[in-house]
Amino acid sequence: MIEVEHLRDRAPSTAGDLQAGPGPGFALILVEADQAVLARMGAALPAGWGAQAFADLDELDGAPVRPDDPVVLVLGPSQAGEVQLGRVAALLRGTPGVGAVLVVDRLSSDLMRLSLRAGIDDAIDVAQVASELPSAVSDLVGRLEEDLSTARAAAQDGRTLHGRRPARAAVTSVFSPKGGVGKSVLAVNLAAALAQSCGQPVAILDLDLQFGDVSVMMRLQPAHTLSDAISAGDLLDETLLRSFLVRHDKSGVYVLGAPTSPSDADQVEPATILRVLELMREMFAHVIIDTPPHLSEVVLQAVAESDLVAFLVAMDVPSVKNARLGLQAFELLRLPMDKVLLVLNRADSKVHLAPHDVERALELRVHLSLPSDPVVPQSVNQGVPVQIAYPRSRFAGQVAQLAEIVMSRAEQSALER
Ligand SMILES: Nc1ncnc2c1ncn2[C@@H]1O[C@H](COP(=O)(O)OP(=O)(O)OP(=O)(O)O)[C@@H](O)[C@H]1O
Ligand SMILES: [Mg+2]
Repeated sequence: MIEVEHLRDRAPSTAGDLQAGPGPGFALILVEADQAVLARMGAALPAGWGAQAFADLDELDGAPVRPDDPVVLVLGPSQAGEVQLGRVAALLRGTPGVGAVLVVDRLSSDLMRLSLRAGIDDAIDVAQVASELPSAVSDLVGRLEEDLSTARAAAQDGRTLHGRRPARAAVTSVFSPKGGVGKSVLAVNLAAALAQSCGQPVAILDLDLQFGDVSVMMRLQPAHTLSDAISAGDLLDETLLRSFLVRHDKSGVYVLGAPTSPSDADQVEPATILRVLELMREMFAHVIIDTPPHLSEVVLQAVAESDLVAFLVAMDVPSVKNARLGLQAFELLRLPMDKVLLVLNRADSKVHLAPHDVERALELRVHLSLPSDPVVPQSVNQGVPVQIAYPRSRFAGQVAQLAEIVMSRAEQSALER
């Protein structure tokens, strides 16, 4: 069995083709049994990249690899069998910074399925090697460098996705039956506050499938979204899901963004969301779900799966009326009321309603009140959570308090489990 982590442990040797001095910044390994094809693959690549050539996967153990550099495997047509791809899968799985390009005679649907399952990053036709292999390799190196820097950043701040992690994440949905009351603002800031306080990995799942704006509020442009997780179907596992998440560097929060095209929302089945959520529970300490302003089947499923629901109410009569209807729907569906945390937004607005009026109308205790604060729209426009941009604001202080409530409830239910 070839262990890439084991390859990484080796000091770079001066033997072989590895460049002395600065080098290309990545290791490039070609594997192909047919010498003529191997030579063609090698000739397509710039000499400065220092490709190392092998006839068989077994020989890789001898390949010198600089620690912390991306490793790109270019596998020739002789490596496209089920057995070889199974071994490549074992090599790639859960190892950030290692990727593979497959060179094929013909990409059949069977081979495509096998390659996807093995985690192959790109496949190109052997006839196109000269024109396409160099860019396939350099694109992959770029992606692997990003993966490595994410993994390093995560390891550095103690929020490793690969190391020790909690048994099961606590899932908190942010919900309100009314639009525009501050759900996404609260979801983003609650996640940032949890990431700051709990020192473990935290993620947001944006379930506002048609108009999700968590990514915009964090100024992220994710290359992948929930749509990719849905398209992956049965192939979706932790490794694949991890590649669809994007890390917001300022807060350390991982985001699985909503589909970018509203029409993709139609494809989302509650069962798929369950699968995504189940995987995220294994990967994070806290998962925050942002929701749209209506009770769709997907939202109900998410709420039912949540350990806590931050139920947001604005200080106006229509909001309170809708909140009553929303809570009645929860009761009809037998969702336990003790997981609802009632949160008032803009509780200090100059309106004729007082928090105790809301408590009386909803027959529920208010757990927390968020003030109306100009730093909120400012932070939304800057694309930085209030917790990071204005940590001393009253709004940030109140959200930090909500994060404390969420953490203590999570600890309590972990003890009861
Ligand atoms: N406490 C607050 N103080 C000042 N402005 C706020 C506050 N909470 C929310 N806002 C503003 O209200 C607007 C709507 O917030 P947000 O997008 O979070 O609402 P939403 O409930 O997610 O809306 P939608 O239902 O459309 O998803 C934002 O522009 C935000 O700046
Ligand atoms: Mg929203």
